[in-house]
Amino acid sequence: MKNPVSGFSKLTKTEKINWLTTNYFEGNISAKNTLEQYWNTNLSLQKLHDDFIENTISNYYLPLGVAPNFLINDTLYTIPMVIEESSVVAAASNAAKFWLEKGGFKAEIISTTKNGQVHFNYFGNFNDLQTFFNETKPALISGIETLQTNMKKRGGGLIDITLVDSTKKLEGYYQLHCTFETLDAMGANFINSCLETIATIFESKTQEYTPFKISEKTPEIVMSILSNFVPECTVKASVSCPVESLTVGKISGQVFAEKLTRAVAIAKAEPRRAVTHNKGIMNGVDAVILATGNDFRAVEAGVHAFAAKNGNYSSLTHAAIENGIFTFWIELPLALGTVGGLTSLHPLVKFAFDLLQKPNAKELMKIVAVAGLAQNFAALKSLVTTGIQKGHMKMHLMNILNGLNATSTEKEQAIEHYKTNPVSHSNVVTFISNLRDIK
Ligand code: MEV
Repeated sequence: MKNPVSGFSKLTKTEKINWLTTNYFEGNISAKNTLEQYWNTNLSLQKLHDDFIENTISNYYLPLGVAPNFLINDTLYTIPMVIEESSVVAAASNAAKFWLEKGGFKAEIISTTKNGQVHFNYFGNFNDLQTFFNETKPALISGIETLQTNMKKRGGGLIDITLVDSTKKLEGYYQLHCTFETLDAMGANFINSCLETIATIFESKTQEYTPFKISEKTPEIVMSILSNFVPECTVKASVSCPVESLTVGKISGQVFAEKLTRAVAIAKAEPRRAVTHNKGIMNGVDAVILATGNDFRAVEAGVHAFAAKNGNYSSLTHAAIENGIFTFWIELPLALGTVGGLTSLHPLVKFAFDLLQKPNAKELMKIVAVAGLAQNFAALKSLVTTGIQKGHMKMHLMNILNGLNATSTEKEQAIEHYKTNPVSHSNVVTFISNLRDIK
């Protein structure tokens, strides 16, 4: 029987761990040791990480890898990637190399507008509301002037506020739909602060408005929050080359291009395939987003909504063969920041930005979109040729060997053996136990 705890956040780190070991690990010291072995010996660095969230008890490591040879708009990048899945960085590097020899990737920003809404209820006359909004809008804008000072100096800020009648979706439901340019900041805090201030002014003005008083129907704020659906903050990345230069092993360029284009068509037609197809894209996207300290949950939510924007969940990538030229492209909604948040706090995020030659948000959007496109290309290349498992299990071999505590000699022998044999967990177990029996 576990006991609830009160005031947990006020305990010291050691007290928290002691409470956990007592309540969940029967006092076993090994749980404590596991946590402590990941503490950084540099105390100020550890304190920095402790303070990112509440109730920190240790650090959770994920590998930081790099994928070199990404030629994007004629600039060569080595892309940092944080991910646990063994084949992702290798696949990215592979795709980068493949396209390096064919002119590399092109990327362009389509738009950078972000948005948020003040959601409110109103059950009165729409014309009264519209007139009230038109009269009040200047006060809503001037009310956030101080919040906007720095953003405006840099050329960003609120773009517009519109009144949206959403009563067809939900009775009595309206929005103040606000659009913003947040430049190199992801902008969540800026947008949310503006929205909350707009909502407060809006609400206070409703109290003074005579038609609302007379009708006794006054708008009522429900909530104010940015939207992670950012279809007006998008980037396009593409590759293209003559079909004949797409030869892969014994497969002709024409056959390969047709198979890959067909694989994309299947992902467009079939949501069950589209989800996995897009998951592969997000292997690349999330890995760069994590390495650069951005909010991968925001991007994930926005990207999948974008994939379903036409009413059917579909592929985020597109492929075409026209006049002997194969083109493969992606359009992604990406609200990213290169300033604020973790970007200036986490030393490895700073490293990632330095490695990427200090990109601004627009450049980072391009790099992330390219990483997603490259990842999808690599996955489809395997899927329509050798199948995914061959490369995947080769990469996974090291995880299996580590799980079996294989020595370096055993690893060498296993790597040699599995150059020509299919990898599976059970046959690696047998292979290693046979080696150990021989000894
Ligand atoms: C695995 O993490 C990702 C893939 O399943 C993507 C795909 O099927 O396109 C290989």
